[in-house]
Amino acid sequence: MGRLICLSNRLPLGPTPSGGLVVALADALAERGGVWIGSSGELSETPETRFTEIEGGPFRRLAFDLSPEEQASYYHGYSNSVLWPLFHGRTDLLDIRGEYLTGYKEVNRRLAKMLLEVLEPDDRIWVHDFHLLPLAHDLRVLGAENRMGFFLHTPFPTPLALQALPNGPELCTWLAHYELVGLQAERDVRNCMDAMVQIGGATELAGGFIHLAPRQVRIAAFPVAIDAAEFRTLAEEQVTQLPEGLVKPNRRLMIGVDRLDYTKGVPQRFRAFGEFLDRHEEWHRHVSLIQISPPTREGVTAYDDIRQETEHLSGQINGTFADITWAPIRFINRPVPREVLAGLYRAADIALVTPLMDGMNLVAKEFVAAQDPDDPGVLILSQFAGASEQLVDALTVNPHDPEQMATAMMTALAMPLSERRRRHAGMMQLLLKKDVHWWSKGFLTALG
Ligand code: G6P
Repeated sequence: MGRLICLSNRLPLGPTPSGGLVVALADALAERGGVWIGSSGELSETPETRFTEIEGGPFRRLAFDLSPEEQASYYHGYSNSVLWPLFHGRTDLLDIRGEYLTGYKEVNRRLAKMLLEVLEPDDRIWVHDFHLLPLAHDLRVLGAENRMGFFLHTPFPTPLALQALPNGPELCTWLAHYELVGLQAERDVRNCMDAMVQIGGATELAGGFIHLAPRQVRIAAFPVAIDAAEFRTLAEEQVTQLPEGLVKPNRRLMIGVDRLDYTKGVPQRFRAFGEFLDRHEEWHRHVSLIQISPPTREGVTAYDDIRQETEHLSGQINGTFADITWAPIRFINRPVPREVLAGLYRAADIALVTPLMDGMNLVAKEFVAAQDPDDPGVLILSQFAGASEQLVDALTVNPHDPEQMATAMMTALAMPLSERRRRHAGMMQLLLKKDVHWWSKGFLTALG
């Protein structure tokens, strides 16, 4: 069997960030051998026309640079100011500009040409995420006949939302050049099927296939996963290493971990926590929330805005409720190493995973995997995270409803041990069975 070639916008280089994609892919490739191609993160006035080999690591890595103009149009522009808000139901944040689409297409065409130089006929190609949608189309134009699969790590928009994209029909034809389109959740499969038919003009066939010239495409859900056993071990080892004073005997800990992104619902979470403190004076000084939110995509206006809004809200809540021995929110705006996070998850009593919209959300899965099964914490999970289709034993909430979220916080704090154990056992069983190996195997088997 030929090699597996994975492509994603971002190639992991340094210490592991809290983003889930990197963790999931590293596992998939280390197991199967192959090449991972992605951007170096470096800007260069005149990017090379060949990939640069990155030494070390458990598998081959090839990097490409972007020019400052490409970064502006392809990454900040079409990827993060058009596709990202659109795919997360935020059509109000769309910044549609011709030059963004042009830059996006040019980068994808350049990558297709560079890839063709290293491609062998029996390689299978696995393209990841919304930055690289046109890649199969561009490779086919250059004559590549390899099997190609695409996996979208974000939600897929409804056909109605996709109508807001001037080139919505073109986006559908890009997908029609893959043999397989993988999505996170069943809701995304339904949206994608409907969009391909209503906007792309495709015909829906039996068995999860659509036909849109030039080919039949299979569209199916492959919920992305973690190495739950590995993460459990990491958390067991780390919990003893946590700084002293972090966990106090009479103080309970809530935790939230998200890139500082407007899709993650951090302002809504803070407001709900404020509502909880307002209602429950008896919990003052006995519960605190650590919110870890490394900044991301800085320079895009919506991200600068969310930073201001969350800083303001956390300050306001601390100002209202804090006393000299206690501040309710600790808001941390820097990345925290994966192993430290694992220990923090295990030490925490409650995780608040309450995005307004999310493809999967691996923080939810990592939190569950990190728990002590004898005394597990409680997961409060948004109904809009893809993970909620699988983690049915979480406390499911609507992140737009601060009163319901405040009630869920109280329910979680008061939850009897037997119920915590039962809910945790159900979720852990699923995570051990449907882990990252199951995920990559499922996708690659379907790709053929
Ligand atoms: C999401 C996307 C990934 C992306 C990650 C971090 O998880 O699905 O493709 O890599 O966010 O975002 P960034 O823009 O920093 O790569």
